[in-house]
Amino acid sequence: KTVYILNGPNLNLLGQREPEIYGAETLDDVAVACADTAKTAGLTCRFLQSNWEGQLIDWIHEARDAAAGIIINPAALTHTSVAILDALNSFDGPVIEVHISQVHKREAFRHHSYVSQRADAVMAGFGTHGYLLALRHMQHLLA
Ligand code: DQA
Repeated sequence: KTVYILNGPNLNLLGQREPEIYGAETLDDVAVACADTAKTAGLTCRFLQSNWEGQLIDWIHEARDAAAGIIINPAALTHTSVAILDALNSFDGPVIEVHISQVHKREAFRHHSYVSQRADAVMAGFGTHGYLLALRHMQHLLA
């Protein structure tokens, strides 16, 4: 079974961007760790990042046929995008929302997530380890 792992705007700068909040690991490091965990879980993952909302929506549409589950860190689009929520609502499988930082400890505008209206589970504040925990939970949901 294939799991799409989607990452939103600015996450290409992981490791360089506000490392005191998001840590020193790069997104490539996270992709490698996810591939490894997915393999152990008997899953295949497709790890993708875009700074463009429409590209993320196109990947969610593609996942309707290509993926059993979606793990998504929509980054800032979490707090703004009804369009990503609508796209996820067109997807039948499990959806897990991931945030590297503990968004509820941060600015009030990060406390609301459109995506949480659809997500079956939400990870926040586990650092990049949250992606791996989400994959293990996805294994359980897809079993
Ligand atoms: C984030 C949290 C968002 O509020 C922020 O805009 C991001 C990253 C996280 O992973 O902690 O870009 O989704």
